Formats: sequence, structure tokens, C-alpha cells
Amino acid sequence: MGWGTERNGIGMCGIVGILGKSTVATNLVDALRRLEYRGYDSAGIATVEDGSLERRRAEGKLRNLERRLNDEPLAGRTGIGHTRWATHGRPTERNAHPHMTAKVSVVHNGIIENFRALRAELEAKGHVFETDTDTESVVHLITDEMQKGLPPVDAVREALQHLEGAFALGIIFAGHDDLMIAARKGSPLAIGYGAGEMYLGSDAIALAPFTDTITYLEEGDWAVLTRNGAEIHDLEGAIVERPVVKSVASALLVDKGNHRHFMAKEIHEQPEVISHTLANYIDMAAGRVNFPDLGIALDSIDRVTISACGTAYYAGLVAKYWIERIARVPVEIDVASELRYREAPLPPNGLALLVSQSGETADTLATLRYCRANGQRIASIVNVRTSTIARESHTVLPTLAGPEIGVASTKAFTCQLSVLACLALAIGRARGVLDRDAEAAHVKALTEIPRHVAGIVRHESQFVSIAQELSKARDVLYLGRGTSYPIALEGALKLKEISYLHAEGYAAGELKHGPIALIDDNVPVIVVAPEDDLFDKTISNMQEVAARGGQIILISDAAPHKVACKVAAHIEMPSVGTIATPLLYAVPTQLIAYHTAVIMGTDVDQPRNLAKSVTVE
Ligand code: F6R
Repeated sequence: MGWGTERNGIGMCGIVGILGKSTVATNLVDALRRLEYRGYDSAGIATVEDGSLERRRAEGKLRNLERRLNDEPLAGRTGIGHTRWATHGRPTERNAHPHMTAKVSVVHNGIIENFRALRAELEAKGHVFETDTDTESVVHLITDEMQKGLPPVDAVREALQHLEGAFALGIIFAGHDDLMIAARKGSPLAIGYGAGEMYLGSDAIALAPFTDTITYLEEGDWAVLTRNGAEIHDLEGAIVERPVVKSVASALLVDKGNHRHFMAKEIHEQPEVISHTLANYIDMAAGRVNFPDLGIALDSIDRVTISACGTAYYAGLVAKYWIERIARVPVEIDVASELRYREAPLPPNGLALLVSQSGETADTLATLRYCRANGQRIASIVNVRTSTIARESHTVLPTLAGPEIGVASTKAFTCQLSVLACLALAIGRARGVLDRDAEAAHVKALTEIPRHVAGIVRHESQFVSIAQELSKARDVLYLGRGTSYPIALEGALKLKEISYLHAEGYAAGELKHGPIALIDDNVPVIVVAPEDDLFDKTISNMQEVAARGGQIILISDAAPHKVACKVAAHIEMPSVGTIATPLLYAVPTQLIAYHTAVIMGTDVDQPRNLAKSVTVE
């Protein structure tokens, strides 16, 4: 896999598919070109030609694939295509998609978490693997089902039961010129309707030249496409109707999909963008962190200084806990508007981390310059690669969140956390305080996040009823300990900025030093409390709240019988490795804020008085 600092683009694989009336190769490449903005390092297409599967793939840009196709054209009318951002295995032609056997060809976006186990099982049955990718295990799994005699649709239905992870798939079959199957679990997919033709794409932008009539698959859906239309199945296998909408993607660089607001779309995109960000810093095949050279020996850093504003600052605050606990290096952190004027002494061998979605925030930039002038090695975690903060840093550690349009930051935050978690592991390993097994366990926990986030957004309706209660409140408190403290701060910021309700986040232990005076039966208290080593302490704080009539909304993976306290609502979370908790627990706080704002009728994507990029002090 490649290093973050060498990357351009934003790194999300792209999927397209066409059931056409005539040869589809040229149109597949055109559709892929419209997905170039997602970033890629190889590309390929496959078609069904005289009943057999044929493919062409090439390393690098689409023009290389076009050259291959000029030399060796593909004639099929049914085809799939892919732009690949390498995750499992290097960006070579051999690892490029589509992957195939004689029976089935697959394009895939996302992470198949259990690919190692699947591969071992399938190899034991005699399947021969040709690549290092996780995708190939999907190809052989479906082939295996077909070898047992199952027709394609049943083989895919069966195979999907065995796949763990967050992903999107496009699948075609030898001998089936009028069939394509699509599946969505965590990564978006759109189906396009033409006259006697059908299309598949990672987003409506890819399909804009061919059709504006789109159905967005919902979480867990899989669909059987023929030239006559699409039959969509939900997670439970029932045939479902999904809305057919007119897309305006051709006029826009980014579209909202089937969401009412960009913020909702961006919350839902998190499984995909977290996957891609992690893939940039983790060698998925080896299960180890693979971090770029920061130009400073990681084992010699005496202190890390972190600075940022708003949500990005809270990402830094989580990182303080990780870097101190996992890597045993002291961390100084302050909001940029303070650090820039504090004249803080900085150590000779220090690393400064600046975190910014836009890369243009005036205070963060000024702090960067202060740190640089004071001899710090500068690494910035930015979403916009061409930004001023990126340009003025020694090293850029990109978040691969894609354009964030909603003013309230959501996916950029969880992607910032993804990069910072990997950095903490990299420093820990370099300093010899994190052994291989511990690193592997953390990496596993991180790679499972996209799947868990997809699971949380799938149960979105529970947040609507909570939001209804919150919308009647005047003040809302958020409490948390450890890494859940910054998540409480971030949750409160999210709620106040888009719903205009007054909300504050506190370290749970601070409750009795003041904020407890606010509590009465009109004050909802949102408690972020994973069942970790601080859980019992947080429960005590909850009891203090409950005793004063406060309405507790608990976000926790603890079994209800362990919650020795009356709660108004319990958002049940999956149990995950500790490093994964802040990323996961941020998602319910985003959904609570979003639905409260929708109920209050505010301008969710452009809340009053706020700007996406704060280039003034
Ligand atoms: C909150 C939010 C802001 C930004 C802050 C920093 O949802 O978006 O608090 O996080 O203005 O912006 P960037 O990350 O662009 O430096």
C-alpha cells in the first residue's frame, strides 16, 4: 500500500456497471472518469462476451486502461468497472479489479473483515487465489456456491450471509448476459434506469451522462438488475420498493444522494470514508500500522503538541489520551486561538500536530507558524490537500473523508480520529511500548469500525424519538470520562451549533463541582459511557443525576442489568476494542444533533452565524 504523503485525491474506490443495448466498454470508462475525483491508482473493466467473462485492467490512470482497450477491445453488452484505491495489496494490475473466476466477476469497495478466514476455508476446498486482495475471497465464495449448483442469485444471497465488513459490490456472471447483482452494506450504491438499459454506480455523478433516474440502495440492500429493471431485497431478504428519484448530479460536483441534507449524507458516508482513511495508514493484509515518515524519529519525540479549533480540537483531545496511554509520550494540547498567543515554550525535539478539515482556519495556521518558528516538526491532519495548512507543513497526513459540505463537521471528525489512532500506534510501536499482539488487537478493532458504524446508522429511527424529547429542552448536558469526555464535548458542540439549543459537555467527574446545580427534571443528560475501566465511576455520576430528576440518555455497550440507574433511553452500542470507542460513540451524538435540528426546523447544513472555513480570527 502507499503512503499518505504521496497521495493525491481522496481515496475511495469507484464502482460502475452497465447492462447496455450495445457494447459498454467505452461508457464504463466514461463513468469511471466521473469517479476520478475519489482518487485511485489502478482501474479495470470486465464484460460478458459470448457467454464468457473477459477483462482488461491497468495500473495508474484511466488512459492506461483505455490504451489496453484500444489494443484489445472488449465487445460485451454487460459489464462492470472499477477504480481502485489500494488497500489490501499493492496497486498492481494483478490486484486491480474486477476480480474473477471462470464463473463470476466482482468489483468491490470497502473492507471484507473476515477475508483471511474465508480465504483459508476456500483454499482448503481447492480454490486457487491469484491476488493479495480481500475482494478475491468474495469471488471464490460465490463461485463455490455456484459449484454446489446454486443459480447466481441464490449463490450471492448465500455468500452475502458469510461476508463481514462494510462494503459495496457489483457482480456479473459467465453465461448470463442479462444479469448484474449489486449489494450495499456500508458503502453507497446507486442504480440508474435507462430505456432498455440499466446502470450501477458508486454515486449518481458517475451515471449522470446516461440517466438522471436513480434509486439509491439503502443500508443492507442487495439488488438483481436486468435490462427490464431492478428487484431490490432488504437485509432480511424481503423484496422492497425504494424511491426512484430524479438526480441533479449532472449539475453538481457532489450530490445529496437520497438524503435531505448534506449532513445526513456525510454521517451515512462514514463507514466508507473511515475505511479509506484507515486503509491509507494500515497494512490491512498484515494487520499492522503503516505510517508515513514524519521526518523525525518517532522513538525520539519528547513531546507532542496538538492544536486545532472546534471539532478538530476535540479530535486532538481524544488523541492526547491515545498518545499518552498507548505511546507513553506527553501531549500538550490547546485551542489554536490560545496557543498562538500563549508564548508557550516548546521542546527542542517536539512534534506539532495541527488538525483541520479545511486546512484554512486562521488560528490553526497561525499556531502552525508559531510551532514551526519554534523548531517543531510539523505534521498536519487535513482534509483539503491543497490547503494552506497542508502546504506549510513538513508532512501532510490526509483524512480521506471527501468533500464535507455540511457546516457541522461529522465525517471529517471520525476520519481525523482514524489518522490520529494510527499515529498513536505508530509512535507506540517505534518506542517499543506497544508489542505486536497489542498492535494487532488495536488494528483489528479499528478495521471493524466501519461495520459497526453502518450498524448504528441502520438503527437511525431510535434517534428521532430521543430528538423529539430534546427539542423540548432548554439546556442539555453531555458527560463522559477518558476518551468519552472529548466525545461529550463534541456532542454538545454539534447539538448547539445546528439546533441552537444550549448544550455543554463536561468531564463526568466535574459534575459535582458545579454543573450539578443545573439539574432538574427538565434537563436531559446524555451520558457517553462505554463499559471500560471508568464505567463504574460514570455510573455513580449518573446516579447523582438521577437522584435530582435529570433525564438520562445513556450511550453504552453495557448490558441493561449492569446500568444500576434509571435511564430515560439507552442507545445500545456494540462492544468494541477501546481504541475504537470514541469513533463509534461520536456517531450517535451526530445523529441526535441532526434529528433534533430537523425537528426544530433549523437550516441544518448552513446554521446561522457559522462558516465552513474560518479564515479570520
Ligand atoms: C463544528 C465545526 C467547527 C470546525 C472548526 C475548525 O462542527 O465544524 O468547529 O471544526 O471551525 O475547522 P477546520 O477543521 O476546518 O480547521
